[in-house]
Amino acid sequence: MKFQPGEQPARLKRGDVIDLEVTAVAHGGLCVGRFSGQVVFVRHTIPGERVRARVGDAPSHGRFVRADTEAVLRSSPDRVSPPCPYAGVCGGCDWQHVSLAAQRQLKASVVREQLARVGQEDPTRWLDLVVEPVPGDDEGLGWRTRMRYAVDARGRAGLRGYRANDVVPIDTCLIAAPGVRDLQITRRDWVGRKEVTAVAPSASTAVAIPDARPGVAKVREVAADRVWRMDATAFWQVHPGAADTLVGAVREVLNPRGGDHLLDLYSGVGLFAGALADDVGEMGQVDAVESDAVAVRSARRNLHDVPQVRIHGESVDRWLGRGGVQHCDLIVLDPPRSGAGKRVMASILQLRPRAIAYVACDPASLARDIATAKRVGWRLSSLRAFDVFPMTHHVECVALLEPQAPAGHLT
Ligand SMILES: C[S@@+](CC[C@H](N)C(=O)[O-])C[C@H]1O[C@@H](n2cnc3c(N)ncnc32)[C@H](O)[C@@H]1O
Repeated sequence: MKFQPGEQPARLKRGDVIDLEVTAVAHGGLCVGRFSGQVVFVRHTIPGERVRARVGDAPSHGRFVRADTEAVLRSSPDRVSPPCPYAGVCGGCDWQHVSLAAQRQLKASVVREQLARVGQEDPTRWLDLVVEPVPGDDEGLGWRTRMRYAVDARGRAGLRGYRANDVVPIDTCLIAAPGVRDLQITRRDWVGRKEVTAVAPSASTAVAIPDARPGVAKVREVAADRVWRMDATAFWQVHPGAADTLVGAVREVLNPRGGDHLLDLYSGVGLFAGALADDVGEMGQVDAVESDAVAVRSARRNLHDVPQVRIHGESVDRWLGRGGVQHCDLIVLDPPRSGAGKRVMASILQLRPRAIAYVACDPASLARDIATAKRVGWRLSSLRAFDVFPMTHHVECVALLEPQAPAGHLT
């Protein structure tokens, strides 16, 4: 139903069409507006615009509805013509209609807002935060070296729709790295498969792995002055400029010294452990903890020649809970999207490290874990944000946490 000015529905429902002012950006690639008092999260718009939007999802709690833009009634100067013909149809990109510079400003706003609202930071503290491009950035396109395609009942590979299970047929994805595009996944027959993962590594040929089965292909990456061999299904940073950038940012804030004992928690194939092992030297020690058996095998192979590194194939919470480590000097914390959580945060803070470098792909989880640390006397000392997922709402942060008081004086 389309509402005329002055006409107000009791409560918005699916299919309603509304005109509204878009006032702010929200986490998740959405913007916020209000319609007769109700909060509306709108996709494919920009703060400052006036849009006509169709309500998609109207949860029964009534606190908000989700809507998608049907027409832009007053356009933002940051609006651009999306480079990709599937923008707005496939669920992968959120910000194709926004200039790259403005995308980065929107992401910085989201990080700031999460830190203020959830992380209890002073809202004025991070006003100068910028989301930095990483080396290899090519107008935000051609960066995705790992892509998961969904396969429909007829064996055609495509991408998932937004918050949907349907498979959107596509020809080429413009954010996919050239090596991924060359595999021509969407032109091949995948009948009988549920999904296909395409991997285009920096130092070996691109591979397609049906149904994410480990053991099908090995790939090689080069980062932090090492060659990394891994099963193609193991975690690796997706943007070709991400691994070196994050290692550099972590090294800069942690400043490891010879002889330090460092923990690399959620260590994947051992990127940070291997990179920082030289910094702590053979008099130091690095404990790397990772639960994915496939990544652990790759890490052991990659770092077998670095005696100061020990790899533990276990979940971080269980490993910490066993109490094998009473103290450490530095921690790299690089959890999945859900963050570290209260228990892990409590355990690592008790180890009284000098500093924790928290590498975060979700600013909301990061902010929650920062709040946990602040409650027991820690502070957020520095923060950088990187645009390793251009065109999408995702952003990677490297946050430095340090004790307010010198180690050993915490309550
Ligand atoms: C964001 S990735 C980081 C990997 C690595 N630090 C890197 O940059 O390549 C998170 C890693 O945590 C692992 N993981 C997820 N939950 C875990 C848990 N509870 N305990 C240990 N590792 C976990 C995943 O398998 C994945 O390898």
